[in-house]
Amino acid sequence: MRIASLVTAVVLGLGGLAASEPALITVQPATPGPRVSPTMYGIFFEDINFGADGGLYAELVKNRSFEFPTPLMGWSEVRAEGAAGAIAIKDQEGFSAANPRWLRIRAEARGYGAANEGFRGMGVQAGARYRFAAQVRGTTAFTVALVAPDGRVLAHAPVTGPGSTWRACTATLTATATEAKARLELRAEAAGTIDLDMVSLFPEATFKGRANGLRADMAQLLADLKPGFMRFPGGCIVEGRTLDNRYQWKTTIGPIEERTLIINRWNTEFKHRSTPDYFQSFGLGFFEYFQLCEDIGAEPLPILNCGMACQYNSKELAPLDRLDVYIQDAIDLIEFANGPATSRWGAKRAAMGHPAPFNLKFLGVGNEQWGQQYIDRYAIMAKALKTRHPEIRLVSSAGPSPDNKDFHFAWSKLPGLGAEIVDEHCYSKPDWFYAAATRYDRHDRTGPKVFMGEYAAHGHDKRNTWGTALAEAAFLTGLERNADVVVMSAYAPLFGHVDAWQWRPNLIWADNLRVVGTANYEVQKLFSTNRPDVVLPATVVQPAGVAGPKNGPVFAVAGRDERSGELVVKVVNAAAQELPVQLAGLGAIQAIAAAVLAGAPGDENELGQAPRIAPRPFAVAVPAGTDPVLMTLPAQAVAVLRIRTRP
Ligand code: AHR
Repeated sequence: MRIASLVTAVVLGLGGLAASEPALITVQPATPGPRVSPTMYGIFFEDINFGADGGLYAELVKNRSFEFPTPLMGWSEVRAEGAAGAIAIKDQEGFSAANPRWLRIRAEARGYGAANEGFRGMGVQAGARYRFAAQVRGTTAFTVALVAPDGRVLAHAPVTGPGSTWRACTATLTATATEAKARLELRAEAAGTIDLDMVSLFPEATFKGRANGLRADMAQLLADLKPGFMRFPGGCIVEGRTLDNRYQWKTTIGPIEERTLIINRWNTEFKHRSTPDYFQSFGLGFFEYFQLCEDIGAEPLPILNCGMACQYNSKELAPLDRLDVYIQDAIDLIEFANGPATSRWGAKRAAMGHPAPFNLKFLGVGNEQWGQQYIDRYAIMAKALKTRHPEIRLVSSAGPSPDNKDFHFAWSKLPGLGAEIVDEHCYSKPDWFYAAATRYDRHDRTGPKVFMGEYAAHGHDKRNTWGTALAEAAFLTGLERNADVVVMSAYAPLFGHVDAWQWRPNLIWADNLRVVGTANYEVQKLFSTNRPDVVLPATVVQPAGVAGPKNGPVFAVAGRDERSGELVVKVVNAAAQELPVQLAGLGAIQAIAAAVLAGAPGDENELGQAPRIAPRPFAVAVPAGTDPVLMTLPAQAVAVLRIRTRP
C-alpha cells in the first residue's frame, strides 16, 4: 500500500473518537532497531491438496503418460452409436523409455475413441484457447473435442496425418462456453488405430505465457503477495513415505517425457480424505520452480531430502556412511541453479531455456525432521556443503512442534553445528498465536536465525476464518518486531482444491475455474506488501478494562520504509469492540494513508463471492503539530498506517 494509492487521509475532529481510555502506542523513530530481511514474508509451496498437478500446474489432462499404476485411471472409452472398438495400454515400442506405457485406440468405425476426465473435470473459459499436444502414431486421423458433462461440444479440432512412427501433433481448441467440469475426447475419423502418449491440454494463457506453464490466476495471487522467498517442493513430499518415494529433483527436469512420475504421498495419507488419483507428474519440476521464483521476485529456497523418509510413516533412514548421494544431489542442484552454462548441470538449465544462473542463496537440509538421527545427518551434510559452497545459507529443521522435547533438543544441538537458519513449524489454536506474539522477545540474539517455515492458526473445523487470520496478524507483529532473529516466515499449506484437498486450512483455495485468497491471505499480503526496512521501537499501553487475548487486545509493530521515508505502523485490535488508539512519538505529520482489514470471527472469503475480508481505506486524522495520532480501530481489525512526517 502506498500513500498515493489510498484515500487521502481525512482530517477529523477529536470529537469522533470513542469515549473509553485509548490504547497508547509510542514509537521512537529516532532510535532505529533491527533491519527487516527482504525475505521476511514468503511462501511455502508443496504439492498437497492438488497444489501442483490439478492446481498451479496448468496441465488439464490427468495421467497424460498412462504411467499411473492403474494405467487407464482418468481415461475411458467413448463411442458414437454403433461405433465399436477397443482401448488398450501397451508398453513395447513406446515413445519414451522413461515413460514406457502408451494408449492404443483401435476403432472399427468413425466416432470411437477415448476421453480424459481431467482433475475433477477440466475448467475451460468461454473464448479462451487451449493447446492440445500429443505424441501420435497410427492409421487414422481423429478429432479432439472439449465436451461438457451434458454432452455439449464446447470446442473441436481435427488432428490429421498420424503416420507409422511417433510424431508430435498439435491442435488449438477455442471454448465456446465456460465449464468447470469439461472432458477431453479423442475420436477416430475412420476405422484404424491411433497410438497416443504424453497427451496434453494447456490453456494458451498461462502465467507469463510460459510453455508447460502455470495457471495464471493462481500464480498471480502468489505474485500479488510480493513474496520475499519461495520454499519448495515441500513439506512431507520431500521425505516420501519411504526413501524410494522421496522427492528427487533430478527426475523433475528436462523434457517432460523424460520425467518419471511417482505417487504423491498425500494420495493415501489421510483415510478420510483419500485421493487415489493423486500422483506427481513433475511437469512442475525444479526448473519451473526456479522460474516461478524469478517471475515473482522471490528468492528460491529448495528443500532436499537428507537421507530420512517421513518420521510419521516408515522412518526409513539412509545409513550415515551412505549420505554421499544426498550430498551430491545438493551440490549438483547448486550447479544446476548457479553454475555456468558450460558446467554439467548448468548446461541442463541452459538447455531448458535459462542460460543465466538463478542465483540460489538458500538450501534446506531435510524437511520437518527431528531427533538425534536428524542431527547426525545434518552435521554430515552441512559440513560437506559448507566446505564446497560457503556462500549458500543452509536451513535446518527444528521438527514438527513449536515447543516439545524434540524442538528443544534440536535447538540445543544446532547452534553448536554452526546452523544458520532454523526452520520452526507452528500449527496451533488461535490463542497460541496471540500468546506467541512475544515468542522471540527474549530469544538468544547470538545464535542461528529463525525461519517460521510453516504456521497456521487452526480454529474450529480448521476453516480459514477471520478469527484465525486475526490471531496470525498479532503473531506477525511479534515476528517483525524481532526481525534480528526471525528472517523468514511462511503460512502453510499454500493451496487447496475444493474438490480434492487433504489438509486445511490453506492460504488460497481454488476450483477448476476460480481462485480465492482467504482472510489469512489478506493478512499475509498486508504484512508482506508493507514490510519496512527497519524496525522502530514501539511500546503498547493496553486500554484498561477491555477483554482480549493474552498480550492484547492491542498488538503493534512499527518500522520505516527507507525508499519512501514513510513510517509504517501495523496495529491489531483483537477485542470484540472498537477501540480508540493513540499513536505518539511520531513528530510532525504531513500525511497518513491507512487501510484496515476487519470482520466477524467466523467470516470467510469464498470462491465466486465478493470477499468478506478485504482491505478497506481507513480515514485517520492528521494531527496538528506534534500531537499524537488518534484513531478508532474497528473491532477485530488489523490496520496498517503509512505515515509521512515533516523533515
Ligand atoms: O503443511 C503440511 C505439512 O505439515 C507439511 O508437508 C509438513 O512439513 C508439515 O507436517
